[in-house]
Amino acid sequence: MKDLLLIALFAGLGATGAGLLGWLAVRLLRRRSMALSLFCVAVVTVLAVTSGTFAVAQAMFLSGHDLGVVITVLGMASVVSLLTAALLGRQVVAGSRALTAAARTVGSDTGFTAPDRPLGLELAQLSEELAATSARLAESRARTRALDASRRELIAWISHDLRTPLAGLRAMAEALEDGVADRPEQYLRRIRAEVERLTGMVDDLFELSRIQAGALSLSLSRVSVYDLVDDALAGAHPLARQRGVRLEGGQVAAEPVEVDSREITRVLGNLLVNAIRSTPEDGVVAVSARREVDEVVLSVTDGCGGIPEQDLARVFETGWRGSAARTPRRDPGEGGDSGAGDSGAGLGLAIVRGIVEAHAGRARVHNVTGGCCFEIALPAARG
Ligand SMILES: Nc1ncnc2c1ncn2[C@@H]1O[C@H](COP(=O)(O)OP(=O)(O)OP(=O)(O)O)[C@@H](O)[C@H]1O
Ligand SMILES: [Mg+2]
Repeated sequence: MKDLLLIALFAGLGATGAGLLGWLAVRLLRRRSMALSLFCVAVVTVLAVTSGTFAVAQAMFLSGHDLGVVITVLGMASVVSLLTAALLGRQVVAGSRALTAAARTVGSDTGFTAPDRPLGLELAQLSEELAATSARLAESRARTRALDASRRELIAWISHDLRTPLAGLRAMAEALEDGVADRPEQYLRRIRAEVERLTGMVDDLFELSRIQAGALSLSLSRVSVYDLVDDALAGAHPLARQRGVRLEGGQVAAEPVEVDSREITRVLGNLLVNAIRSTPEDGVVAVSARREVDEVVLSVTDGCGGIPEQDLARVFETGWRGSAARTPRRDPGEGGDSGAGDSGAGLGLAIVRGIVEAHAGRARVHNVTGGCCFEIALPAARG
């Protein structure tokens, strides 16, 4: 028993010496290749066993013959374990090199190309992570590209939309200046209407840029949707009367919501103007509001005959207008030839979506019989 304890002590001392050397070597090699560290671990194991064996032999616990046998066995085991460690090191290094090469493909046009050799568990997880990052990068690039394209398109459209009425305004101002306008008061009325329309467009652009910059600061207050709808309907009445469209707001529940009333009235106003413009004379535009679990859903239904299925997903895009809306139409009674009319800039619904989403709500549209229905869902006020 005592011998056994002494053997353990000598073997421990020998192994500790080798262990300390190994610890030093691993520390010194920590910035070098992982293969070297792996090899080092194998060398330490061999050294620990060998030094322990020699320490035990020195203390005369082993005969010369036994020591020879042990050294032969140790020698063979050492060769095999060092070779195995070298092989493992090579494998790890090759895997990590393959992954480094693959990492260069992250974010490339062709997407991430995973290494075609089998990888260890950790490297395989890293490879999966890189593939996911690459996919996210590609997605956000595509989004940025689409956003850039839509901004360029919007600037082109807005410039076009501004050029036509400005040319009209200049022609009318010149005619007034030269005294060739036979009915100057009609020219003045049209100039004022045009200026108002342009002011509205600039106002919309400003609102949209505030929304897109995240600079929309909402002053929330608890109001009943009944009052919001009432205000919006009052604002839309003159246009509806002019167009011969009937406004219906009978199905509005007095549900409380916590919103910025000015902004939501603007949302409802945009939806109502669109609905009235799209509904033929004698048609009906109906506004309703209902509670759905923890949301209050406001809807504006018109008689536009339905929006083509492929356009439904695009109506909320900034600057998007239906093909009919690109041909300027004129408000009845406006008269004249300025080319002005109710063709908008395609900003109204983008503003609707921006404002509603700033309220943590959702804006959507679907077709109904004879028309379409725009819905905004706002979180219901608590308590
Ligand atoms: N209620 C509706 N019924 C049918 N089509 C609609 C309706 N509302 C919008 N649309 C279609 O969606 C397009 C985009 O609407 P949006 O309000 O964003 O722009 P706009 O009305 O053309 O211009 P703006 O609102 O800037 O004056 C419209 O041009 C129209 O084609
Ligand atoms: Mg509009």
